[in-house]
Amino acid sequence: MTGLGDVDSSIPNVARMYDYYLGGYHNFAVDREAAEKILAIFPDTPAAARTNRRFLQRAVRHLAEAGVRQFLDIGTGLPTQGNVHEMTDGKVVYVDNDPVAVAQARSLVDGLDRVSVACADLREPEALLADPAVAGHLDFSQPVAILMVSILHFVPDEAHPGDLIARLRDATAPGSHLVVSHLTLDGVPAAPAAAGQQVYRQSSAPIVPRSKAAIADLFAGYDLLDPGLVWLGDWRPDNGDEQVSHGYGGVGVRAIRS
Ligand SMILES: C[S@@+](CC[C@H](N)C(=O)[O-])C[C@H]1O[C@@H](n2cnc3c(N)ncnc32)[C@H](O)[C@@H]1O
Repeated sequence: MTGLGDVDSSIPNVARMYDYYLGGYHNFAVDREAAEKILAIFPDTPAAARTNRRFLQRAVRHLAEAGVRQFLDIGTGLPTQGNVHEMTDGKVVYVDNDPVAVAQARSLVDGLDRVSVACADLREPEALLADPAVAGHLDFSQPVAILMVSILHFVPDEAHPGDLIARLRDATAPGSHLVVSHLTLDGVPAAPAAAGQQVYRQSSAPIVPRSKAAIADLFAGYDLLDPGLVWLGDWRPDNGDEQVSHGYGGVGVRAIRS
């Protein structure tokens, strides 16, 4: 983890905390301490993180089997296995605003022409789309699946996540898709919910859980594929998949009317 000039190891980083939940090694003491506080409140967080990864993998596999050949994965994170380019032989762009995640993605796909990596921010969609690693790699006249898996709960309401999604959606062709998973605290008692949010308030990206209805609104301009917006473990599960879900997930196809 050396040679990454922009890395801030003084505050917990959400990508590295997630890496710790998944049993990875791309994290510092400050990340592990914050992650352990979350585990004390929500001990099933590692299982929920695995369920989220399986949702991502099933969604990409489904789209690849349906003929989608281009994937824009925004908020790639640090996982080392089961990544998007392993679920498809189509084109993939990995995007993250965290330099450690970007470096990890670059090292994973080094030498693979069909995969590119951009350091860009979802909150600046025009710059993201104009990044040479995006604009030079994907053909936006053809369908693109935009993946926002476990990232939108790091985008506060003030940043207008629905507008950000719409700006990306409007850059894509008919037949394009949106894949979203999103943390919720629906059904979680107020005390642990507040304690968990307090931990993330000290991190690189405070967390913004949303209700099922608010997450459904993020699919404006898309028609949800079956089974709709559901607990992550319930989206077309394979036999043996874990069912511990801390969020909802869905896959939409760009509506003709948008
Ligand atoms: C919890 S990880 C999710 C990783 C992966 N998508 C998954 O679900 O397994 C969230 C990722 O989103 C990234 N992220 C958060 N806010 C972002 C933003 N505004 N722009 C780009 N990436 C962002 C973080 O750096 C982190 O790598």
